[in-house]
Amino acid sequence: MSELLLKLTNLNVGFSEDLVQDVSLEVRSGEIIAVLGQSGIGKTTLIRTIAGLVQPRQGSVELNLPEHGGLGYIPQRLGLVRHASVYHNVNLGARASLPWFKGSREERARRVTSAIAAMGLEEKTLEPIRRLSGGQLRRVATARALAQQPKLLLADEFLSELDHTTVDVVVDAVKTLTDDGHSLVMVEHHEENVEMIATRIWLIENQQLIDMTIDEWHKKMEEEE
Ligand SMILES: Nc1ncnc2c1ncn2[C@@H]1O[C@H](COP(=O)(O)OP(=O)(O)OP(=O)(O)O)[C@@H](O)[C@H]1O
Ligand SMILES: [Mg+2]
Repeated sequence: MSELLLKLTNLNVGFSEDLVQDVSLEVRSGEIIAVLGQSGIGKTTLIRTIAGLVQPRQGSVELNLPEHGGLGYIPQRLGLVRHASVYHNVNLGARASLPWFKGSREERARRVTSAIAAMGLEEKTLEPIRRLSGGQLRRVATARALAQQPKLLLADEFLSELDHTTVDVVVDAVKTLTDDGHSLVMVEHHEENVEMIATRIWLIENQQLIDMTIDEWHKKMEEEE
C-alpha cells in the first residue's frame, strides 16, 4: 500500500498576486512528479511553498513525513556552504535525518561517502565548494539530498548543467530512493529527462496546475503541434 506523503488543498501560491491558483493534489510514496511550465510561471514558488519557505496565499499544505529529515530540498540556487568542503556540505544532509542523538557517527559517515561516490565526486571530497564547476556543484547538492534520504524530495532543476552520461548516473542514484518508496517532485525543462524518470506531470499554465499522466501529457503535446 502506498502512503500519503503530501496533500495540497485549494492552494494559492504567489507573492503580492497569485501565480498558481486552487491546487488540490495528493502525492503518494514512490511517485516521481515532473513540474513543467514556462520560465517565471511559478514552479520554484510552488516548490518553496510546499517546503514551507513561502507562505500560501490561501489553502493548505499538509505533509505526512518523518520528523527528522523527512522533507528534502535541492534548491535551484543550490544553497551550498561555499567555504566548506564537499564532505561538510553532504554531511549537512546526513545530519538532517540522523542528528547526533539518532544513529551513529559511523552510519552518518557511511551515508556521506556513499552519496559522494554515487555522484562520482570522490576525488573532490575535501575540495572547497567554490573550486567546483557548475555541474559538480549541482551533484554536491544532490549528494546532500541522497545522504539525507528524505521521504519526499523537492528538486528544482537538479539535472541542469549536466551532460547525458552524468544525467544517467544522477537519475540512477535518485531512483534507488524512489524504488524504496520515497517520492520526488522535480522541476524540469528537458523533455528527455522527464521521459526518463517521471511517473506523473504537473503542468503549470494560465495560473492553473494541470495534473496529468504521462500519456495525457503526450496527447496534449501532440495536439499542440
Ligand atoms: N521572493 C519573491 N518576491 C516577489 N516575487 C517573486 C519572489 N520570487 C519570485 N518572484 C516572482 O514570481 C514569479 C515566479 O517565479 P518562479 O521563480 O516561481 O518561476 P519559475 O517558474 O521557477 O521560473 P524559472 O523556470 O525561470 O526558474 C516571477 O515573476 C518572479 O519574479
Ligand atoms: Mg525556477
